Amino acid sequence: MTGSTISSPGRPGLTSQEIVAGLRALGIEAGSAILVHSSLSSFGYVAGGAGAVIDAMLAAVGPAGTVVVPTLTGTPQDGPAHPPVFNVRSSPCWTGRIPTEFLRRPGVRRSLHPTHSVAGLGALMPALVEGHESCLTPCGPQSPYYRLAEKGGFVVLLGVGQGSNTTLHTAEELAGVPYHLQGEPTDCVVIGYDGVRRVYRLYLHAWGTPRRFERIDEDLTQLGIMRMGTIGLATVRVIRALPMIEWVVGKLREDPGYLVAAR
Ligand SMILES: CC(C)(COP(=O)(O)OP(=O)(O)OC[C@H]1O[C@@H](n2cnc3c(N)ncnc32)[C@H](O)[C@@H]1OP(=O)(O)O)[C@@H](O)C(=O)NCCC(=O)NCCS
Repeated sequence: MTGSTISSPGRPGLTSQEIVAGLRALGIEAGSAILVHSSLSSFGYVAGGAGAVIDAMLAAVGPAGTVVVPTLTGTPQDGPAHPPVFNVRSSPCWTGRIPTEFLRRPGVRRSLHPTHSVAGLGALMPALVEGHESCLTPCGPQSPYYRLAEKGGFVVLLGVGQGSNTTLHTAEELAGVPYHLQGEPTDCVVIGYDGVRRVYRLYLHAWGTPRRFERIDEDLTQLGIMRMGTIGLATVRVIRALPMIEWVVGKLREDPGYLVAAR
């Protein structure tokens, strides 16, 4: 590790055990199901790097729990004119070092969605991710995002803000906002674990509408849906996913522009 602000010769760094303790203090317990969005550098120096954070996430929920990470691959170019080609075994994700390393863990199962895949380990797997590639929209009721919420799961934001909270797109889909999805479906190519190439006609994410997801922080805290704390130098948010979705859907039904940034 060479980053000058991160590496700290002579200092042991944040340990996996300290991360487990931090997650526990924020309400994660044995048996919890968590969807974790992350920034490794946000912690300051972590002894053992991304692997230690993954060990901590798995230890915090234990064998009866489930850890899921976003392994997103979508780009603004995706659409009917440029259909995405997704290979579950080899398509790299752009969601950071922790999900990238998580994908290499033995037993991890990744969903087959061509733009919004997630990967998971634990008790709810593989059922949680099955059929994601057949969901007409990326984050809808049959997607892993909603299924995790239905199971009483948490969204955990490790050193990142609400802008990384993909499950807010679930709320947007349920509320039927007009800006989240492309108007025409795309014939997406998916290469599954069996190596077979299949085509799925799906409605993809429409890029280009800036959001103001951060505005929900205060209300979620006041409503008792979210707890916020620090682990190392990272600000960490732990959010009960289903109450969050339900509350945000309510807000979007009152005002479909609630999460859209002013231009
Ligand atoms: C983009 C994003 C991943 C960048 O975060 P980051 O902390 O800079 O990068 P990563 O999490 O990939 O971690 C790698 C960085 O950690 C740092 N690092 C390396 N080893 C480390 C260690 N042992 N301890 C702490 N930090 C370390 C380095 O700065 C490294 O950057 P480098 O590869 O350029 O040297 C993050 O801001 C983000 O957005 N995460 C959420 C993504 C997401 O889930 N999006 C959902 C859809 S919107």
